[in-house]
Order: sequence, then C-alpha cells, then structure tokens
Amino acid sequence: MSGTARLTVNGNTVTAPLGQTVLDAALSGGIVIPQDCCTGQCGTCRCDLLAGHCDDAGTRERNSVLACQARVTGDVEFRFDPVPLEMKTTGEVRALRPLGGDIFELVLRVNKMVPYLPGQYVKVQFSGFPERDYSPTLTLEGLRELDEIVIHIRRYETGAVSPAIGTLIKPGTRFKLRGPFGHAFLRQGQGRLVMVSSGTGFAPLWAMAVAARMGQPGRELCVVASARDPQNLYMRPAMDWLVRQGVQNITLCASGASPLPPARQGRALAFLPALKAEDTVYACGAPDMVEAVKALALQADAAFYADPFYAAPPAKEPLARKLLNFIRPKPKSPVHNSIAKLEREFERRD
Ligand SMILES: Cc1cc2nc3c(=O)[nH]c(=O)nc-3n(C[C@H](O)[C@H](O)[C@H](O)COP(=O)(O)OP(=O)(O)OC[C@H]3O[C@@H](n4cnc5c(N)ncnc54)[C@H](O)[C@@H]3O)c2cc1C
Ligand code: FES
Repeated sequence: MSGTARLTVNGNTVTAPLGQTVLDAALSGGIVIPQDCCTGQCGTCRCDLLAGHCDDAGTRERNSVLACQARVTGDVEFRFDPVPLEMKTTGEVRALRPLGGDIFELVLRVNKMVPYLPGQYVKVQFSGFPERDYSPTLTLEGLRELDEIVIHIRRYETGAVSPAIGTLIKPGTRFKLRGPFGHAFLRQGQGRLVMVSSGTGFAPLWAMAVAARMGQPGRELCVVASARDPQNLYMRPAMDWLVRQGVQNITLCASGASPLPPARQGRALAFLPALKAEDTVYACGAPDMVEAVKALALQADAAFYADPFYAAPPAKEPLARKLLNFIRPKPKSPVHNSIAKLEREFERRD
C-alpha cells in the first residue's frame, strides 16, 4: 500500500504513510499515544475512532481500536483520554502483611511521587527479580500516603517473583518502578458502574470503587468480587466499607468451595446483573473471566474496560548465557567450575 493520508489524534494532524500502524504514524509526526506492550495485549493504546476509516486488525470494540495494531488506510481521526505521563522511580518496600489465603499487601515507598489514575497499572522490578505488572490500590482500610504505592499480590507457587514475597522480598527490599500504563481506568460519566474482579483483580477494582464513591457519589455502583478459593476472599473489610458508604449491589463469591456468608458460592458471572447499554463495565483479573464479561458487555452495547492479568512472557535467555551454553566445556575441565559459578550468578540476577 503506497501513498499518504491525514491522521488526526486529539486535534493534531500529521501526514501518515498508508499501511503504517496508527501508533507509529502518530509517533513519526511527534504525537505520543500511550503505549506499553505494542503486541495488542495490554490495551494501553486503545483510541476512539471519531471519523474516517482504518484497518482495525480485528481490535475494534464499539468505536475504539488498538493503535499499535490498527493501520492507516485513509484520512482518519482518533482521540484518547489524557493520562499521566510514563515515569520511572526507585524505592524500597516499606511494609508487608498477609491478607489471607495466598494474598499479601505490600506498601512500596517511592522516591518520586507516581501520578496514576485508579485502575491503571505499573511495572515493578524487585531487586534480583524480573519485572512484573501490578495495579496500585489502597490498603483494605482505604488508605495510602502520597509517597506510597500499595499493591495486593497473589503468591503463585511456580512463579518467578511472587513466591519470594515475605522471604527475599520484604521490608527494605529495593525496587525500580515505571508507569503508569493501561486503559481500564475510572472515567467520569453517567449511568451505572458495574465492576467485576477475580482474585487480586480486586486491587484495581478497589482503587476505582473508592474513587467512584468519593468523586461520583450519585452514580449507582455494582461490585462483584470473586476468587476460586474462599481463603482468597481477602477483600471482606473493603466490601464492608462500600456497604457503609451506601453501595447496595455487592456480591462476594467463591467458585471452588462454599465460603462463609454473606459470601456466596459460584462464579462471578453468575452474580452479574443483566447489563444495559447505559452501563459502564470494568472487569479485572483472570483473562478468561474478563473475556466472558466483555462478551456480555458488548452484547448489551455497554461501555467496557478490560484489565486482564496476563502472566508475563517467559524471560528471554540473556546473550551471555547463550554464549556460555555454546562454549560449554566438558564437566571437570579446568574452566568448568568458573563457568558454573558465572551461571549461578546469572540465576541470582534473573
Ligand atoms: C496489567 C496487569 C496488572 C496486574 N496486576 C496485578 C496485581 O495487582 N496483583 C497481582 O497479584 N498480580 C497482578 N498481575 C499479575 C502479575 O503481573 C504476575 O503475572 C503475577 O504476580 C505472577 O508473577 P510471578 O512472577 O509470580 O509468576 P510468573 O513467573 O509470571 O508465572 C509463573 C507461573 O505462575 C502461574 N501464574 C502466573 N500468573 C498467573 C495468573 N494470573 N493466573 C494463574 N496462574 C498464574 C502460571 O503457572 C505461570 O506459568 C497483573 C498483570 C497484568 C498484566
Ligand atoms: S500498546 Fe497496544 S495493546 Fe499494548
């Protein structure tokens, strides 16, 4: 495809080569659309199509497309909601407490304040571990200081990072943080808010629910928080707070076994109210649950924002380790021990 077209983003127009992705074409013209993965997974670059046409590469949801996948095919106009600029900082773990089941609350003290919108996520690399995405939230009492990021983390036995929570990752552990990213953040609006979570998907839900209650108190709010294991229904105190603030449509549920009342047994989907076109729906947590809620929301023509907690891709083998494997000497050769020592060092750093 050759030729050019006019690409307008948030009122700024650039000349874009036909066939280029909207994200790249905008960037070549000096317009930065928020982005993270550039593979169509994180949703950070989702933009509303205001006029014209593009090849949406199968990413269309109502009137929005993913700018990192959609391609320019003619004159076209987009808009995205302004978000805080991506930044980097460092800090150390200030506090850690178990919240029940496999869930922990970590309070991270940051050296620079990190502006984010409730529902966005950040990337944290604890010293000696690979980077992971986490959704800043509040303590279950609804608190955080300005120099803090609060996260709820679930421990996965086979994970590269979460099994170290409470052992190698503890108060005093240093970290690097960058962000914020994500498109599933709370917006102002009319109509009912429906928020659904599974597991620690409750973290972004809680951040949004508190902000919604404080900032849009007249708006009806419906919350469904779920977990497979009843032990992981760590959000009970937060749900009690929502009840005290007048939120009536609240369900806590566990699918794996019968939980203590008032929690109910069953999957989140079973307790979702019938969705309407005026609703704004947020689904956070397990990707299959998020997809199922999305199908129902799109069917009802409701606005939908997804925050799927995809597992991080497996770490790439560092070049130095690849070289070591290539030149690996026979066991017991003179250099064997020093290479084994180097490998142990790589493992420690990974
Ligand atoms: C946008 C976004 C926001 C996120 N926010 C949070 C958050 O606030 N709190 C939080 O706890 N996590 C969150 N996650 C997930 C988090 O980034 C990690 O994927 C998770 O903590 C596991 O990391 P790990 O290094 O322990 O396991 P990994 O080394 O990444 O995974 C190893 C194995 O653990 C298991 N595993 C990992 N993740 C999952 C999963 N989600 N479901 C089932 N099995 C899994 C799988 O068997 C996987 O192969 C978020 C993810 C994304 C994409
Ligand atoms: S940057 Fe486009 S989906 Fe992640």
